[in-house]
Amino acid sequence: MVEPRPLDERFIGRTFADFLFRPQLGAAISRRQISLESRLTSRLAVGLPIVSANMDTVTELEMAKAMALEGGVGVIHRAMPIDRQAEMVRRVKRSHGAVIETPWRLPRGTSVREARSFARRHSINAILIEESEGSGILAGLLTARDMPWFPGTEDRPVDDFMTPFERLVVRPPGISEDEAELLMFEHRVERLPLVDERRQIRGLITLRDLMVFHRRPHTSKDRKGRLLVAAAIGARGDFLDRTAALLEAEVDALVVDIAHGHSRAMADAIAALRARFANVPLICGNVATAEGARFLADCGADAVKVGVGPGRGCRTRLETAAGVPQLQAIREAWCAVGDEVPIVADGGVVHDKDIFLALICGASTVMLGSALSGTDESPGHVIEDPASHEKHKIYRGMTSPQAVFESLYDGDESNDLEDAFETPAEGQETQVPYKGPVSDVLGRIRGHLQSAVSYAGETSLTAARAKIVPDPMGYLIPLSEASRRESFER
Ligand code: XMP
Repeated sequence: MVEPRPLDERFIGRTFADFLFRPQLGAAISRRQISLESRLTSRLAVGLPIVSANMDTVTELEMAKAMALEGGVGVIHRAMPIDRQAEMVRRVKRSHGAVIETPWRLPRGTSVREARSFARRHSINAILIEESEGSGILAGLLTARDMPWFPGTEDRPVDDFMTPFERLVVRPPGISEDEAELLMFEHRVERLPLVDERRQIRGLITLRDLMVFHRRPHTSKDRKGRLLVAAAIGARGDFLDRTAALLEAEVDALVVDIAHGHSRAMADAIAALRARFANVPLICGNVATAEGARFLADCGADAVKVGVGPGRGCRTRLETAAGVPQLQAIREAWCAVGDEVPIVADGGVVHDKDIFLALICGASTVMLGSALSGTDESPGHVIEDPASHEKHKIYRGMTSPQAVFESLYDGDESNDLEDAFETPAEGQETQVPYKGPVSDVLGRIRGHLQSAVSYAGETSLTAARAKIVPDPMGYLIPLSEASRRESFER
């Protein structure tokens, strides 16, 4: 256990807009080469220290995929039935993996109509055909291009259109990514089925997935080269069943997310999770004090999520007076747990510079809600104002009446959501401008963080944190009202 450190009093009552960073002698390296690698939990690393919030207007399947592709990680929210959440996790793990271990397949004799609807249902454009249902013996490959579109073909079997096994390029499992890529280029094929000596299907490599990783060197991957994904659970009700289903879907980390994480309910939940699922990485929260962070670390959390009330969709502070200014909360948490347990700073980020301030005051990653909302990958529709033609999407707190109502309507039966429905709202719904692809937002954040590290005189976020986190006040300038105006009013 780390020795608790005293909180520098200059942090009390302070948050992001209260400080600027004092520029340091620059390091001789191009900003683009600056590494932003950090830790999500003690065992999981990310290439971009950004986590997308487990909110129903922020993270579902598309956001989770995009987050991992850009080097961060998404947390799929839990305001939905267990099987739907687990299916989203499963789909992230199947997408863009270097090797798809259990590719979708259909037996010989399947009609073109069925194959087409199967491909649509699973969002795939190539299906392996097996000799007979469940045999696992490769008979051929059917791609979107092979499927006929002229009339009278819908009921014909896929056998008539697939590339048969004899004409396929295949390899045994265990082939390296480089070998696979070379082979696919030499044979001008886009898919490489992996089969063993008995022609049993053992995997599939697609050129598109290999190319995705080339273009995005920072992608967050697990040990098998698949995208990282996290998912949220509660602390009561169905949480153990939910956990079992998410683990079965091979989720990489769980976020035990309750409004007041410094509570008996959280301690009991962690104990129950540890008793049944031993090793699963648990990111627990939310807390906003030194005592809260220490409590979670002592309960066995693998990361501590910090933030009570700073979020754009939150009304907790307005309605209950509970909360701690976010930069103070992050600092308090770090003073209590140091680098023993990584801190996820959650909420309140308005400008990209806030992320850097959170990181140099103690956070290892930063969770974003509103900053990632309004993007193509956030759930919900783009709404165009008929008069101004401005485009918006909805962003809302998870305890807003709309979110609570929708999750109950959606069949979520966890007790805490029902409780939330009976409790007056501590969240609200707003419209946010439509922002386009989330990769643009994350690319901008990456660039700004790299610049910030460069102003800190370092060549990596790790080095900047090692230098600054022990005593951030040596690098921060408190702002007067006038200097705040000079800095931020444009
Ligand atoms: P930002 O500022 O990034 O914050 O939009 C995202 C975080 O807000 C929290 N959250 C809530 N807090 N009532 C709250 O008090 C709510 O209804 C609510 N919904 C989300 C959550 O921690 C999220 O990550």
